Amino acid sequence: MHDNTMTVHLKVWRQAGPDVEGRFESYSAEINPHMSFLEMLDVVNEDLIKKGEMPIEFDNDCREGICGTCGCVVNGQAHGLERGTTVCQLHMRSFRDGETIVIEPWRAEAFPVIRDLVVDRGAFDRIISAGGYVSVNTGPKPDANAVKIGKDLSDKAFDSAACIGCGACVAACPNASASLFTGAKITQLALMPQGAPERGRRVRAMVDQMDAEGFGNCSNIGECEAACPKEISLDNIATMKREYLRAMFTDN
Ligand code: SF4
Ligand code: FES
Repeated sequence: MHDNTMTVHLKVWRQAGPDVEGRFESYSAEINPHMSFLEMLDVVNEDLIKKGEMPIEFDNDCREGICGTCGCVVNGQAHGLERGTTVCQLHMRSFRDGETIVIEPWRAEAFPVIRDLVVDRGAFDRIISAGGYVSVNTGPKPDANAVKIGKDLSDKAFDSAACIGCGACVAACPNASASLFTGAKITQLALMPQGAPERGRRVRAMVDQMDAEGFGNCSNIGECEAACPKEISLDNIATMKREYLRAMFTDN
């Protein structure tokens, strides 16, 4: 590495569309080590555009670890090797000068590739639409403080609510299970009194939708928790299973 530059070599999955065969393409870039991973991809893309070639398509929005869209597999690990970090928060200084970095999209049947590193995560939206909300069918929304909630409980619910819906848990799981994502959403709402009236209907609908989307089952491997940029705990999956069992014996 020179003062303010380093060179990286990339092997990037390029795929022109969902039904087109993909392949790895090689690129090199001279970059500033303090750039983020996505800024590094911007540099590669500027070069490709100058050469009249198609830029590498990747998802991103906030670039602050908030939106969950930037996820891809970096050197075999969903969101890269740093724990609790999204791809947009990776910095190039965490790679070696001259290193070859392999970049692939999430691989799961329920997340079809749209193009290059971009996959369709609509299955997550459909799981949320099935019941991942509290119904307020008419009138203004209730005041935030209308129902008092203790700090321990709200902290616990917040830990589950921290899921950003990125899909790394699915990509990391050998079964491509969406249990950590779905479990986090169910746990968050099951803990809150506002979520109680729809508790049973919600878990039944969300788990059934998760299965219908073609995600695999959870077999307690734990790769989801290890890959999650928000460090969502496996406890959320246990809660989802308990909630589902409870819902089988109750009307709600
Ligand atoms: S549980 Fe973690 S890895 Fe899965 S979608 Fe939520 S934030 Fe991403
Ligand atoms: S771009 Fe939003 S989390 Fe990475």
